[in-house]
Amino acid sequence: MKVVVIGGSGHIGSYLIPMLVRENHQVTMVSRGKSKPYVRDWAWDKAELVSMDRSKEPDFAEKIAEMNADVVIDLICFKLEEVKEMVAALKDTDLSHYLYCSTIWTHGRAETIPADPNGVKQPLDEYGRQKYESEKYLMHEYRVNQFPVSIVSPGQICGPGWSIINPLGYGGDDVFQTIADGKEISLPNHGMETLHPVHGEDVAQVFMAAMTHRTQALGQNFHAVSEDSLTLYGYAMAMYRFFGQEPNINFLSWDKWVDYVESDKKASISYHHIARSGYYSIENAKELIGYRPRYTSTQVVEASIQSYVDRSVINVKK
Ligand SMILES: NC(=O)c1ccc[n+]([C@@H]2O[C@H](COP(=O)([O-])OP(=O)(O)OC[C@H]3O[C@@H](n4cnc5c(N)ncnc54)[C@H](OP(=O)(O)O)[C@@H]3O)[C@@H](O)[C@H]2O)c1
Repeated sequence: MKVVVIGGSGHIGSYLIPMLVRENHQVTMVSRGKSKPYVRDWAWDKAELVSMDRSKEPDFAEKIAEMNADVVIDLICFKLEEVKEMVAALKDTDLSHYLYCSTIWTHGRAETIPADPNGVKQPLDEYGRQKYESEKYLMHEYRVNQFPVSIVSPGQICGPGWSIINPLGYGGDDVFQTIADGKEISLPNHGMETLHPVHGEDVAQVFMAAMTHRTQALGQNFHAVSEDSLTLYGYAMAMYRFFGQEPNINFLSWDKWVDYVESDKKASISYHHIARSGYYSIENAKELIGYRPRYTSTQVVEASIQSYVDRSVINVKK
């Protein structure tokens, strides 16, 4: 099949493009041509690379439609207006499947967990709101106009080659160095709030599985997360274990913890992760499209941190 992937040289596409090529699809990857895939793979030579900037090309959706693909995988659509433009442009093409990349940030506080990907959501910020509005619009288009959509909603995407959210709930590599040195870290509250990471390879697996099981996947939203969710405490413990250090974990009430991190930005990012305290159901992905995450949450973060060591982002005393 002819498959167009928009934004395919990042965390997800680094794994997804080679998977598509190996399944003998005719793959076109659209990006600005700035980012290079995190994983080297011969399969990239078989994909067509098209350079186009979504934020600068006024006819972006029409140009994608002109490619007349069977499948469009849209990894970088963040605004409701962009989704509307894409749906309108693709309606008169041979498209049989549009796969939209959403996010678990569409969820806000949950009343019951694990959270249902197709349930009602209360996003906490504008990013989550735009994605949720896009999800609702796409599902309406599916129900009313048979627009062939499936949605994939990843958790915190981890993997070798990039920086990941740390056990304090924000992006900051120094925390891993502190742990590697056996020094103390402080977690907010009781350390029992959660993150729900996923390996980039497993996110790609969900897109592939949804494509392969098109009939079952249409009109569905699938969480792309690992089987288990990780408490901040569990994450911190895994990291002390990884570096062969004795756990040195302190707990602070939220207000004291905000003073401890000395950064409103870090505290805000952490807040938006742990106010949701993700635990997201993959039941429909397992049942309908046969998703089987390869990595547990602990394995996901271990694989990422091994790459920090390999790239000397963290120095480990021999
Ligand atoms: N990262 C996470 O933890 C996470 C979690 C949940 C959901 N998501 C969702 O995942 C999607 C992003 O996937 P990702 O994390 O794999 O992306 P990523 O690693 O940030 O890579 C972005 C990709 O899009 C391309 N790109 C960026 N700006 C562009 C533009 N203006 N025009 C054309 N191409 C552009 C980049 O290549 P160039 O730089 O060469 O253009 C690259 O191929 C989003 O929908 C996001 O909401 C991400």
